[in-house]
Parts: sequence; structure tokens; C-alpha cells
Amino acid sequence: MGAAIDIRHASVRYGAEAVLKDCSLSLRAGEFFALLGASGCGKTTLLRVIAGLCPLDGGTLSFDGAPAERTLQHRPRIGLAFQDQRLFPALSVRDNLEVAIRGLVPEEEHSGRQAEAFLEKMGILELADKKPGELSGGQQKRASLARALAVRPDILLLDEPFSGLHHELRRELRRYLREFQREIGCTTVLVSHDREDAEAIADRIGLMRDGSVETGESDRTEEN
Ligand SMILES: Nc1ncnc2c1ncn2[C@@H]1O[C@H](COP(=O)(O)OP(=O)(O)O)[C@@H](O)[C@H]1O
Ligand SMILES: [Mg+2]
Repeated sequence: MGAAIDIRHASVRYGAEAVLKDCSLSLRAGEFFALLGASGCGKTTLLRVIAGLCPLDGGTLSFDGAPAERTLQHRPRIGLAFQDQRLFPALSVRDNLEVAIRGLVPEEEHSGRQAEAFLEKMGILELADKKPGELSGGQQKRASLARALAVRPDILLLDEPFSGLHHELRRELRRYLREFQREIGCTTVLVSHDREDAEAIADRIGLMRDGSVETGESDRTEEN
């Protein structure tokens, strides 16, 4: 089940450089949101904030209306496909998925061939026993995407998941991802710098600029 995400007046700085500045964004549970923006504008930082990997210097993050730091017991399950994959190099592709599944999915939800099923969907089942280093960049990208989906997340964060993939495969993966997202109902943020990807797949698109997200909708920020 998807979780609503609410970010209010978030700021993040690296040293003297402010990357997120008074950044607010609200996503409905189950919404598919695409985030566009120039390189270096803070898209990855925003995903890291949602994933709990980057602390806020100011502002708040809540899931389903509860502050993220107070939702340890009911923390949404997050699937994250990193921009640079971050597969465990010493583990096989299959075990990269298994580690994520065992770490995040309660045992009663485990099904025998979960890892294989997702590798098959990504068209890389025959690579299951290989190490990430033996895969091409595009194959690693797909393994990383499979790992993010295989945990059947409440929140799915995808950081440029299609970059470097050729057109045909891109279209196929887009279609599959949309199907998966509808079936699972996970709240999804897709970071891209390709407007075509964003428009083909998302319910709503935002543009990151000057450290905050513009959604083009009227700013009816309820201040309470
Ligand atoms: N860990 C870090 N330490 C210092 N600066 C960082 C770090 N991560 C990102 N930055 C800087 O923050 C800015 C935004 O980075 P990032 O969120 O990766 O942007 P994007 O994903 O939109 O390309 C960039 O100027 C980048 O160099
Ligand atoms: Mg990035």
C-alpha cells in the first residue's frame, strides 16, 4: 500500500552550499510523480531525504501525516534504485535481490521465486548467478531496478532508472513499471532528466529549480 509523503520547507546544505531551500512537496498515497531538473540541482538529494539517508537541516518530512522520525514502528517500506546502482559487488545478482527482500519484507510475504520473478521481468534472469561486475551498465541498471521492485515497496524511489538504456528497452520497462506501480499502489518518485519518460509514465510532473520543486499548480499551501 502506498504512503502519502509530505515535505515542508525542507532545507539541506552541504557545507556552505544550500542544495534544498524551502522545498515543499506533497504526494498522495499511490501517486506516480516524476521529478525533472538540471544536473546538480538536488534531485538525488531529495530522494535521499525521503529514503532517510540524508538528514534535513530544516523543515519536516512526514509519511501518512506522521513525522518520519516518529514512525519507526510503521515506517513505510522503501524501494530505492540508486542512480549509480550500488549493487553489492561480492554478491550474485540474485543475492542482491535476496538481501533486500530478507531485510525488508516480512517472512509471511515471502514467496519462493520472488527474486527470479523480478529478474525475469527485467529480462536478465539468465544473469542471476553473475556478479554485478560481470554485467554491462544497462544490465546493472535493470538489476538495481529489479531489487527496488522486489521488496514490493510502499514508496518507490527511482533515480534516473532508464538512463543509458536504448529506446526500445526503455519503452518496455516504462510500460512494465507503470503496470507494477498500479498493481502494488506504491507512491512513486521517478527522477529523470528526460521529459519524454516523465510524460509517458507519471500522473504529475515537477521541476526542481533553485533548491525547490515547482509543480505548476497553484500554491495552495495549507499552513498548519
Ligand atoms: N555528499 C555530498 N557532499 C557535498 N556535496 C554534495 C553531496 N551530494 C551532492 N552534493 C552537491 O549537491 C548538489 C546537488 O546534488 P544532487 O542532489 O546529486 O543533484 P542531481 O541529482 O539533481 O544531479 C550538487 O552541487 C552536488 O555536487
Ligand atoms: Mg542525481
